[in-house]
Formats: sequence, structure tokens, C-alpha cells
Amino acid sequence: YREKILAGQHWVITAGPTREAIDPVRYISNHSSGKMGYAIARAAVNVGARVTLISGPANLAPPQGCQTIQVNSALEMHQQAMALAPEADIFVACAAVADYRLADVATQKIKKTADEMVLNLVKNPDIVADVSALTERPFTVGFAAETQDVEQYARGKLSRKKLDLIAANDVSRAGQGFNSENNALTVFSADSATEIPLADKQQVAGQLVTIINQAYQAKSSPT
Ligand code: PMT
Repeated sequence: YREKILAGQHWVITAGPTREAIDPVRYISNHSSGKMGYAIARAAVNVGARVTLISGPANLAPPQGCQTIQVNSALEMHQQAMALAPEADIFVACAAVADYRLADVATQKIKKTADEMVLNLVKNPDIVADVSALTERPFTVGFAAETQDVEQYARGKLSRKKLDLIAANDVSRAGQGFNSENNALTVFSADSATEIPLADKQQVAGQLVTIINQAYQAKSSPT
């Protein structure tokens, strides 16, 4: 038995990588498996939240008890997030969104002729920053995947993207972060830092959901 502490809350969570097409058979992506985001969705469902999961291509079964929306590209994820976030109480951006997409996607398979080739990339919209800038704005939580100076870069993203919280992971460490079973996070707000030590992603997700809910409650009814 677990208390349904999130009853009445709607959480929208992004997870997994995005794929940016080069041509009909090739794409640019990253090593995100979706495990962390799916674990957060399960953890929130377990304690009573209504959850909508916006997932990039991940090789995972959709979590039970939540609505899962499958997308491919950053632009598709952005569109779904902007449609759903105004209705959400809490938005968690765990997806590893490609920062850039192809300026022009080739409509036919690119042939191997030249010895070198250059791909022109343009910046994708920043999904979590755009959610945070909404007038009907959910409590907004980002992630930061860093390989160095974790706290400094995470705090930079917290303030630049105007987030309520940011969960930082050091993805340079073996056995945690992208495509592993375990993770460790430090959750920063403007004036606090909370450690979630290395553990199975489902356990980490449970602790993260509790921390997010506490900060959300504190913001909704300040003492
Ligand atoms: O999926 P797993 O294999 O389980 O791995 C989990 C994880 C390492 C992917 C996850 O814990 C994590 O760190 N996710 C965020 C990865 C990332 O892209 O971080 P970032 O520091 O580049 O982005 C910062 C924040 O902005 C993130 O909340 C990201 O979702 C968001 N973002 C970034 C770019 C963009 N165009 N739109 C965004 O919303």
C-alpha cells in the first residue's frame, strides 16, 4: 500500500532521445534509453498522479496506468509538450532532446559519391524553456546531463530556462546516466541542493517524485 499523495495532479513527462532525420533511412540521435523518464512516470502513477508521457523512440513497454504519446523528432516532441503543458500541474523534462536538426532533410537516400560531406544543422526549440515561459505555466522541472562542472552548468540551466527545479546527473561516470540501470542526481532549486545517491533508476525516480511534490506544495501554499 502506498499513499496516493499525488491524487488530483496531472504530470506531463518527456523521456527518451529524439531522432533528427538526415534522409529516409538515417538520423542523428543520442544514447538515451528512456529508462529514467519511464521510471519517473511509473513512480508518479504509483502515488496517484495522472501521467502523460511524451516519449521519443525507446525500446521500452509503455508504463501501465499512464497515457503514452510516441514521437520521433524534437519538433514533434515540442508540439505535443506545448499542447499538453498548459493543462499540467507539473512538467518534467527528462528527454534528451537533440539540440539541432538538419536544415534540409533529403527526400531520397543520400548517395555515397563525395569523399567528404557537410550536414547543415539548425537549432531546435528548447522544449522545457518554452513550457516554462507559458502564461498557464506548470511547475517546471528540467534535467541537466553534464560531463564536467555539473553544479555550475546545472544552475546556469535552472536560471536561463527559468525552471523551478533541475535534476543534474554527471553522465561522465560509468554505470549511471545514459542507457544504464542506475543513476544518481543532485536536485537544485534557486536556494537548495538535494542529493539522490546512486541507485536503481526506479528507486531514484521515487525519491525525485517526492522531492518535486514537496517543492510544488511549498510553492503552491507558501508558509
Ligand atoms: O534515458 P536514459 O538512458 O534513462 O538516461 C537518462 C538521461 C541521462 C537522458 C536523463 O537522466 C537526463 O539527463 N536527461 C536530460 C538529457 C539532456 O538532454 O540534458 P541537457 O542538459 O542537454 O538539457 C537540459 C534540459 O533541457 C533537459 O531537461 C532537456 O530535456 C531540456 N531540453 C533540451 C534541449 C531542447 N531542445 N529542449 C529541451 O527541453
